[in-house]
Amino acid sequence: MTGGFAAGAGHDRGTGSPSADLVVVGLGYVGLPLAAAACAAGLRTIGLDVSAEVVAGLGAGRSHVGDVPDATIAEMIAAGFTATTAADVLATADTIVLCVPTGLSEAGEPDLSAVRAAAHTAAPRLRPGALVVLESTSHPGTTEEVVRPILERGSGLRVGEDFHLVYSPERIDPGNERFAVQNTPKIISGCTPLCAKYGVAFYGRFVDSLVVSRGTREAEMAKLLENSYRYVNIALVNEVALFCDRMGIDVWDVLHCAGTKPFGFAPFQPGPGVGGHCIPVDPRYLESKARSAGFTFGTLSAARAVNERMPSHVVLRAAELLGGRGRMLSGSRVLLLGVAYKRDVADTRESPAYPITRGLLAQAAEVSYHDPGVAEFRVDGHPIPRTLRLAEALTSADLVILLQDHSCYDLVELSSSGCLLLDTRGKSAGTAVTLL
Ligand SMILES: NC(=O)c1ccc[n+]([C@@H]2O[C@H](COP(=O)([O-])OP(=O)(O)OC[C@H]3O[C@@H](n4cnc5c(N)ncnc54)[C@H](O)[C@@H]3O)[C@@H](O)[C@H]2O)c1
Repeated sequence: MTGGFAAGAGHDRGTGSPSADLVVVGLGYVGLPLAAAACAAGLRTIGLDVSAEVVAGLGAGRSHVGDVPDATIAEMIAAGFTATTAADVLATADTIVLCVPTGLSEAGEPDLSAVRAAAHTAAPRLRPGALVVLESTSHPGTTEEVVRPILERGSGLRVGEDFHLVYSPERIDPGNERFAVQNTPKIISGCTPLCAKYGVAFYGRFVDSLVVSRGTREAEMAKLLENSYRYVNIALVNEVALFCDRMGIDVWDVLHCAGTKPFGFAPFQPGPGVGGHCIPVDPRYLESKARSAGFTFGTLSAARAVNERMPSHVVLRAAELLGGRGRMLSGSRVLLLGVAYKRDVADTRESPAYPITRGLLAQAAEVSYHDPGVAEFRVDGHPIPRTLRLAEALTSADLVILLQDHSCYDLVELSSSGCLLLDTRGKSAGTAVTLL
């Protein structure tokens, strides 16, 4: 079925109870865009989340995900979409897609507790013939060794015979205006060939291009390769930036020149550190799985050492810059521009702004921040003062550090504003600006 927001809530064939083509479990940066794409394709979609706040917000028409505007939520609701914390909706679903977080534990190890919890919730409610999909990023073996046994034991049903189990990694890129759910090719893998066929039939309703992998472990590994590739290449340009700084070479010009090669070179940008829920986290899943198999991923640990050094390099550069004006960090007013982990997103998870702020506070700087999408920024429980009046804040700060070049920042204006500016993104120009 294709087309606009046409479908309404349905009823289970025969029983008269409400039914859904799809229940999306976990309505975050991944689950909500998926639910929106499915609704737009005419699928009767229900969202299930453990957060009463998320559910209440969506019920009131408010989106908490930047890529899904409130207008889309209104269209989804008009098409019959509901969000709920009531797990019994799973018993009505033809397809269940798990989009729950896969973060790290305190010890920095993979934390599959949300995946396990979601599978335990779904298992006793699974109906024969249902399709279950895991989209969360995780290490090879998660679908077969973690999700499958929970679903089979809890339901008394068998994968490939009574229900179908698929792994299909999400590739959403928050803030990307060109690629979204529909036009990003999607990897589909099944525990059995029949499971994969069901996965293809489901995603074929709203995704343009599908790629079937040999098995679930290949699909899980492909996702980890994609993000580890970014992580390692960012580390390479970060290290090149550190070396260029030592040698007095303009790294941004180096990158510009190398980037003109039309083959064999993919451009990556150095920056203040790697943030977000995926790029710094996913390599940990790979390293952990490798360790358990007696294998060492040397490139990943080397990349981590470089990437984790970047925030302290920013603090060092800040101290040098102020020192050039006869000041110390202690007592200086430092304004951070953009504390989100990425340009034009409101998400601060794993943002390098945390260790940078920690480093500045440790040297008794007075830190404040500006970020249009981040209403509250707390570091180790301490709220960092937010400024809304950018122009005023620029004139009163002793040092301004551009951490994210959000599109709201006029970089020409910023460069010529007369403030002492440290640009960690290399986007400003002029002799008044110091780059990373
Ligand atoms: N954010 C991205 O850019 C991105 C991109 C690709 C893949 N991924 C992967 O997708 C997965 C989800 O990431 P996200 O960014 O959407 O996370 P998120 O934190 O934005 O959203 C997860 C949602 O799941 C809910 N939740 C947690 N446990 C639950 C449970 N047991 N049952 C129901 N709901 C539950 C949370 O309340 C939250 O609303 C992760 O594995 C992540 O690595 C994320």
